[in-house]
Amino acid sequence: MANLISVIPGDGIGPVVVRSAKKVLEVISEAYGFNLSFVEAPAGDSAKKDFGEPLPKDSFDKIRSSDACLKGPVGESAKDVIVFLRQKLDLYANIRPFRTFPGVSSKWSDVDLVIVRENTEDLYKGLEDVGEEYAVALMVLTKKACLRIANVAFQIAEARKKRVTVVHKVNVLKSFELLRRATFEVAKSYPYVTIEEVLVDNAAYQLVSNPQKFDVILTTNMFGDILSDEAAGIVGSLGLAYSANIGDEFGLFEPVHGTAPDINPLYANPIAQIMASKMMLEWLGKKKNNTVMLKAARDLEDTVLCLLQDPKSLTPDLGGRATAEDVTKRFIEILLKGKRTS
Ligand code: NAI
Repeated sequence: MANLISVIPGDGIGPVVVRSAKKVLEVISEAYGFNLSFVEAPAGDSAKKDFGEPLPKDSFDKIRSSDACLKGPVGESAKDVIVFLRQKLDLYANIRPFRTFPGVSSKWSDVDLVIVRENTEDLYKGLEDVGEEYAVALMVLTKKACLRIANVAFQIAEARKKRVTVVHKVNVLKSFELLRRATFEVAKSYPYVTIEEVLVDNAAYQLVSNPQKFDVILTTNMFGDILSDEAAGIVGSLGLAYSANIGDEFGLFEPVHGTAPDINPLYANPIAQIMASKMMLEWLGKKKNNTVMLKAARDLEDTVLCLLQDPKSLTPDLGGRATAEDVTKRFIEILLKGKRTS
């Protein structure tokens, strides 16, 4: 049975990196023998220009009726597209893995952590006002959301290094007590997972000075947003940072980065978007009990690991001169060669 993937090309470097990831998915699905079909769902600044709104109803309907969504970065309309989709589709878990890659120069060589960010609440709920003389934004946390995101963090930690660090700012903002309490309550069901709590300022410091100490970082929406870009810097580039937005029924997969307005799109690093596709295959494979898809996801990651060790495959953000298209071609060569010899 075909899996229908809605595709948001997005803005800026979006169409370039999405083209790359889509090509990879087409090749991999054909090589491994599973069905993927794609439907384009325009959204973002370009959609606003073309259709008068950043997320046209037709695009929203296409996304909602697909099996999963592959999303490129959108520009200034990010709030009306991605923040809206996360809340409307209740994609409450934003899962953002960060690892150092052999071949990519970075200060650290053995980073392997996951940021689990609550994706629907906090200051991003949009309850705010700005006047001439004041601005106010409400930080909203609910027990339900804290419990379910804590559960996701512990499940992930249980399958990894069994350590959850809950990041908050309870010393100044007592609202964080809700997340703290929920985390320690959920921890009781995961006796093999250790739990520690760190204030967000200290967490930001530890991330750059001692990132190996982290396994799973559990935090709120805005802190997770900020710490993610910091973690991307630690592993070498935002062009390597990928993520999943997961709810109980649906998943949307995208890079952590934005539209990179400061670079020539042809030289954008497509790896984050390609690795977001890997997360999509993993999620679909588990949901549909499709072991072939799960194998394809593993091989996709191995191909990326191999590719990044060749300096000719590195884009400028990683110190190389390759274009997104060069990377895609090289990826496909390595993948198909591996498939022939396996
Ligand atoms: P950004 O995340 O687009 O880029 C930050 C820096 O990383 C820039 O120097 C950029 O060149 C570099 N970079 C990012 N991705 C790269 C890639 N794949 N290859 C090579 N270099 C890369 O920066 P910013 O300022 O946060 O966002 C720019 C625009 O993107 C804004 O309009 C913002 O609203 C939007 N945005 C959208 C997001 C989404 O759709 N989920 C997420 C973040 C930002």
